[in-house]
Amino acid sequence: MPESHAKSLYPATSAGHPSKIAIIGAGAVGTAVAYACAMRGDARSIVLQDINKAKVEAEALDIAHGIQFTPTGSVEGSDDVEIVSGADLVIVTAGAKQKPGQSRLELAESTVALMRNIVPSLQRVAPDARFMFITNPVDVVTYVALKLTGLPRNQVFGSGTVLDTSRLRYLVSLQTGVATQNIHAYVAGEHGDSEVALWSSAEIGNVPVRHWGPTLSGRLFDAELRSEIAQEVIQSAYKIIEGKGATNYAIGLAASNIAGAVLRDESRVLTISTLLEDWEGISDVCMAAPTIVGRPGAGRVLNPPLTLAERDGLTASAQRLRQVARDLGF
Ligand code: LAC
Repeated sequence: MPESHAKSLYPATSAGHPSKIAIIGAGAVGTAVAYACAMRGDARSIVLQDINKAKVEAEALDIAHGIQFTPTGSVEGSDDVEIVSGADLVIVTAGAKQKPGQSRLELAESTVALMRNIVPSLQRVAPDARFMFITNPVDVVTYVALKLTGLPRNQVFGSGTVLDTSRLRYLVSLQTGVATQNIHAYVAGEHGDSEVALWSSAEIGNVPVRHWGPTLSGRLFDAELRSEIAQEVIQSAYKIIEGKGATNYAIGLAASNIAGAVLRDESRVLTISTLLEDWEGISDVCMAAPTIVGRPGAGRVLNPPLTLAERDGLTASAQRLRQVARDLGF
């Protein structure tokens, strides 16, 4: 039996060399992230860390047994935080999951207490890593992690509404028959009930959505249909949690896509949760906005044209998130 997995077999590397991803939490989300990252092959080594030793070692081994079929070099698991040492990207999924009907913000108090406990040790073993948080409420968690670590904003960000944006594009694709890759629409704000679909800047191909006309069903792509789609995006997680207890596959795919943008230095525009400073009149809060993502992590935040209603919605989202953080001492 090989010695303890406390130290990864594949040491971390500096920028430009094979990368190392560390995923914290081997639950439904963490293992889906690990599997998706392994399939993409953006990192040479992937490590999973969780307090449940038996589970994390089994989950990592179950992926490692299929490594021949992936571009990835190694997948390891341990309960020892030292396995995270020197990671280029740390993806945090640990935390309570939403119960049926429970909002993400209702998880804030217990999740922030957990972050106070685990973030300092993660920063100790991987001080130069980019930290991506998935744990909900992801915007509050990202803001708290920024405060706890004192790291610059580029190094600490959240998965934000990358998944919500993907859900929106999926639903628009169903309505129009156009590939999701050609649906240029973003969801911004809280990853949650107050998020805002930025319809005014949305395009299908290079056609503004408001000029699209009839959908496949013949129904016009009008304000009523756009509102229904936006609501369906907000309700997506609740619906899946009712049916299977948690969401994991799509967030795993979204997180691995963000990881690829970082590790391949792609400078892609993604609605990650990032610290906003005087963005559309919003400051001192982490929430999703179209952001350039590359090797440094969170980069420039874009300023898309916004209607008054969109701006008001984003301001309300920011106020809600800031209040939750303030109520928890941040
Ligand atoms: C969801 C979780 C990741 O929206 O919050 O599926």
